Amino acid sequence: MNNAYLNGQFLPLAEAKVPALDRGFVFGDGVYELVPVYSKKPFRLDDHLRRLQSSLDAIRLANPHAGDVWRELILRLVAQEEAADQSVYIQVTRGVAPRDHAFPEGAAPTVFLFTPPLVTATVEQKAAGVCAVTAVDYRWQRCDIKAISLLANILLRQQAIDAGCAETVMLRDGFLSEGAASNIFVVKDGVLRAPPPSHLMLTGITYDVVLELAQAHGVPHEVRAVTEAEVRTADELWMTSSTREIMAIVALDGAPVGGGVPGPLAQRMDALYQTFKREVMRA
Ligand code: PDD
Repeated sequence: MNNAYLNGQFLPLAEAKVPALDRGFVFGDGVYELVPVYSKKPFRLDDHLRRLQSSLDAIRLANPHAGDVWRELILRLVAQEEAADQSVYIQVTRGVAPRDHAFPEGAAPTVFLFTPPLVTATVEQKAAGVCAVTAVDYRWQRCDIKAISLLANILLRQQAIDAGCAETVMLRDGFLSEGAASNIFVVKDGVLRAPPPSHLMLTGITYDVVLELAQAHGVPHEVRAVTEAEVRTADELWMTSSTREIMAIVALDGAPVGGGVPGPLAQRMDALYQTFKREVMRA
């Protein structure tokens, strides 16, 4: 929680400082990852590093480190922390340069890592589920990039907070895209449905794991465009992310989802996910 890495140096988080002209600060010109760590083991680290590479490619920023260097930085930071469960936040920006929209010549990227506490849901919170609101997804057309410029996501998520809820379910042109900081799944008549990866959503690592588990355990599932009507008439609605894992949404815009309590498939998938995590940690 109090340790960080910045541009080649391990240091206390409070001492990690970047110049004001860092393009991350001035333009939001950078990308990030958030890797959950269970029992000191980063979960699906290769997938996170692959997604980091895709985000860097998308913003045309050379990856400052090879995979084994990233792995070593992350493991060193994890080892410094007392908590067995934590997360690693990784951010790469286009570096410090005079303010100009054009890519700077010769600026070194800023690499920043720290280990925020991993705040996962308690058993009670999982049993209760959460409420969500819907909003028009007015973000840009490259939501597949895990960009640090999250202003739209922040404003959209705040709509849920202002309504006393946990998440905003975003709809674009009559179709489900994702949550403000999560992916959204729909269950109808025992079939799990999720929108296909596209430039309109971030393909979550948790999203991938859920679909893999559905495949491995014979849960009927479809990856295809999901309409607003399907969202509003769902038997179950879930949000998934590295920090929320699988969380049932039990009310949407004030109306109960299904029976208004976490549904059977959410409970089953959560159990599968927890078992899978334990297996990965033991491996
Ligand atoms: N966000 N979509 C958006 C817009 C997200 O911000 C996130 C996660 C996800 C789920 O991705 P994953 O399963 O890989 O966590 C989908 C993280 C947790 C964050 O910004 O803190």
